[in-house]
Amino acid sequence: MSTSIALIPGDGIGPEVSEAARRVIDATGLSVDWHMADAGGDVIHRYGTPLPEETLETIVRCGVALKGPITTPIGSGFRSVNVNFRKRLDLYANFRPARSYPGVPSRYADVDLIVVRENTEGLYSGLEHVVVPGVVESLRVITERSSERIVRYAFEIARQHGRKKVTSVHKANILKLSDGLFLEVARRVARGYDDIVYEEAIVDATAMRLVLDPSQFDVLVMENLFGDIVSDLTSGLVGGLGMAPSGNIGEKFAVFEAVHGSAPDIAGKGVANPTALILSGALMLRHLDEGARADRVEAAVREVLGKGACVTRDLGGTASTKEYTDAVIEALGRS
Ligand code: NAI
Ligand code: MG
Repeated sequence: MSTSIALIPGDGIGPEVSEAARRVIDATGLSVDWHMADAGGDVIHRYGTPLPEETLETIVRCGVALKGPITTPIGSGFRSVNVNFRKRLDLYANFRPARSYPGVPSRYADVDLIVVRENTEGLYSGLEHVVVPGVVESLRVITERSSERIVRYAFEIARQHGRKKVTSVHKANILKLSDGLFLEVARRVARGYDDIVYEEAIVDATAMRLVLDPSQFDVLVMENLFGDIVSDLTSGLVGGLGMAPSGNIGEKFAVFEAVHGSAPDIAGKGVANPTALILSGALMLRHLDEGARADRVEAAVREVLGKGACVTRDLGGTASTKEYTDAVIEALGRS
């Protein structure tokens, strides 16, 4: 029986990197029934919206999707497709591992962190209004329910991945009520996990400590905006956005995508680094209980990057997206 997966190519470099990831997943030998679905700026003229209902229905039917980046139309009146995706499918947890790969230029050689970002509220609730001309308020919504499930998710991930420590990242010294609530809930959840150390750290100090010595941390959990910023920082510790995969996870559905955007500056040139989306595909395989195939994909990526002979421009090489992908598929074939 084949596995149904929705594939959303997206905008900019999306079609190039999603084609690469699809080929690598097919090369693992998993029999996949790919359901193509549209979203993004380029489809507005056909559907009247960047996120067509048909696309959401396809994801609901498949349960899991691999998604290319989508350009957020600026000032068009449409809200961010990415934020909308997460809200409509209740993909409450954003799972963002940052792991060093040999051969990839970066400051540290052995980074292995997991950032868990709350994906549905905080400042991304989209609640903004003009109080009086010249004064605007944005509401940062923190709820007990969302805090509880994101912290629980972080501890469950820690257990699944054999991790030792979960750190709640916050600004409760200033945001006494909202982050105070987050911490209160986190402490309560932590009491249920005796096997895992629980710590708390203030977000600005966390940024500095991550840069000085990332090995102080293991799994980090936080609200939406802090997670957005801290996970870009951790991807910078392992070689940049071209290397950073992610999963948007809910109770019913999961959408896997790279952390990077549609990179309009290099779109259509065939030079994008597809590693982030290929590694997102590996996270997806693990989510589908295909851990052995996921391990093989990660090992093939590690082999090609480690050799350094066939890597893309952003990593200092000259390979095209396709040449690099071919090398990964060849390494996969030997494993
Ligand atoms: P970006 O991540 O697209 O690009 C930032 C820089 O990194 C650019 O110089 C780009 O060329 C480079 N880069 C990114 N991915 C790369 C890759 N795979 N290989 C080689 N180089 C790569 O961020 P930017 O320019 O701020 O955003 C462009 C558009 O993407 C915006 O409309 C933004 O809203 C959207 N976006 C979408 C996301 C998603 O769909 N999940 C996430 C982030 C941004
Ligand atoms: Mg971001």
